[in-house]
Amino acid sequence: MAQQGDHYSLDEQGLWVEHVGPWAPTKLKIVTDYIQASSAARRRYLGSEAAYIDVFCGPGRSKIRTTGKLIDGSPVAAFSKAKGSLAPFTAMHISDADPDLLSSAEKRLTALGAPVHATPGPASSALPKIVQNLNSSGLHFAFLDPHNLGTLSFDLFQSLAKLKRIDIIVHVSLSDLQRNADRYTSAAHNEFDRFAPGWRDRIGTEMNQGSLRAAILQYWSDNVMALGLPRAEHCELITGTNNQRLYWLIFLGKHELAHDLWTKISSAAKAPQFDF
Ligand SMILES: C[S@@+](CC[C@H](N)C(=O)[O-])C[C@H]1O[C@@H](n2cnc3c(N)ncnc32)[C@H](O)[C@@H]1O
Repeated sequence: MAQQGDHYSLDEQGLWVEHVGPWAPTKLKIVTDYIQASSAARRRYLGSEAAYIDVFCGPGRSKIRTTGKLIDGSPVAAFSKAKGSLAPFTAMHISDADPDLLSSAEKRLTALGAPVHATPGPASSALPKIVQNLNSSGLHFAFLDPHNLGTLSFDLFQSLAKLKRIDIIVHVSLSDLQRNADRYTSAAHNEFDRFAPGWRDRIGTEMNQGSLRAAILQYWSDNVMALGLPRAEHCELITGTNNQRLYWLIFLGKHELAHDLWTKISSAAKAPQFDF
């Protein structure tokens, strides 16, 4: 349950607001640019289904810590961008482990007239239910935005891979990987096991931190690819105010056109090389 403090506060309507770093608008711009760029493709599926899926949706409104500026959270930003594009989403499927945050996001989307469907979290139990109820002939888009790697469990990709046409932007936390690699690799922790099951047998831990991080991410990427979700070569690096590496936004898509669109909207032209 959300609590007022460093991470959250209540707005004048009694809805929760998440406090975020000044890099949050960059993340949302990439997601909404992709939603805009994919609207012509989405328009072809309006007769079947073109759903938005956000199982770490947060409250739908954020406050930038450094400036106090209020911005839309991912589900609201995604809905508004699609609504103003060639094709809206036909359904907004949201979920969050925190029922207070989910309820705030649901209320904000409902007030905007969005076709919102809220499923209680956590993500691992919500996503299979959401996927099961989607039209399998549709074209769907998922944004996976957890704070850490442990909650980005591999079963989420197994669920999404069941959909015939799915584009995914996923937040892979580098700061979590950097800060916690030592702790997570100890046998007592299963964070990496959830993110990349089987890594311990395939990779081992007898290497330096940088190599271990790269090996775990490559192992994860290979396994996601084996599900039929190819990763775009270019991944977008989100950095902090001191230029510290915070997280990757990684694009996964089954179709070539989706990868072409990602190349156009990401900074792939400037930095085509990708190095975990
Ligand atoms: C980075 S925030 C989401 C921000 C939101 N996507 C945005 O851009 O406005 C991550 C969210 O994941 C939620 N969360 C944490 N663990 C979770 C889990 N296992 N399943 C679903 N949600 C979870 C948190 O409550 C939090 O709201």
